[in-house]
Amino acid sequence: MEEKRKKRSKRNIKNINTKKKRICSSSCSCNTRTHDHSSTTIQTLFFACNSFFKSPNSVPLPLDVNMIHFLLDNMTLEDVGLHSDQLFFMSKTTSNGTPRITYATVYQCNNFSMCLFFLPPRAVIPLHDHPGMTVFTKILFGSMHIKSYDWIDPIHESTHLRSAKIVMDSVFTAPSKSSILYPNAGGNIHCFTAITPCVFLDVLGPPFLDGRDCSYYKEHPCSSSSSSSDCNEVKEDNQNCWLEEIDVPKDLFRGVEYLGPKIIDA
Ligand SMILES: [Fe+2]
Repeated sequence: MEEKRKKRSKRNIKNINTKKKRICSSSCSCNTRTHDHSSTTIQTLFFACNSFFKSPNSVPLPLDVNMIHFLLDNMTLEDVGLHSDQLFFMSKTTSNGTPRITYATVYQCNNFSMCLFFLPPRAVIPLHDHPGMTVFTKILFGSMHIKSYDWIDPIHESTHLRSAKIVMDSVFTAPSKSSILYPNAGGNIHCFTAITPCVFLDVLGPPFLDGRDCSYYKEHPCSSSSSSSDCNEVKEDNQNCWLEEIDVPKDLFRGVEYLGPKIIDA
């Protein structure tokens, strides 16, 4: 089954690359027939995302999801122009004492974005959501603890306390397989804690653009409130909690320029 999936993904990648070469020969500004824009892994990932994230509201189809997983699962630090000997991590800390996180936008359009994150040891990206978004995550370097939740009631409007169920609570070490979260499933609300220096690549569709922003949350155990039955119904298995929206953390992120292989968006 796995072998079949890999073969199908490889065939589809070939189709995407063939299509791109045709576009390149007729309209690309590089003006040469010998230049192959499909030669880098990150460029192939771009082609796939560009095909599958068809609009800001689209969620990739299952076969398309498989292909993006296939590409991400095989990605390395070198594919984004980095090497473990040359990794640079910010030594500064945020106002609350945790290490600051660096990010570099690889590509961004209205439908999706690709972004690299660099976490020093002990750095934490606090619990945050991805409203209406599909997000792939691939750890390229290091070990990271990921804890994620989904809303028990996705259409609940309150921003004070909302009940959520735990989806994932595990440590992942590169080169682990890529993960995915959906608008209402797969752990749309998550928290990352770096155990070692970490680098990961996110593919976000749609991106954080045009007023779409994430909210940050703090966890409370179910026993801290009795105002709703949602959380209490299954609290005995310790899988549910309350999430309370908190202020956006200050000075947590610092943007730097992406210096890896260029994405040709032509
Ligand atoms: Fe996230």
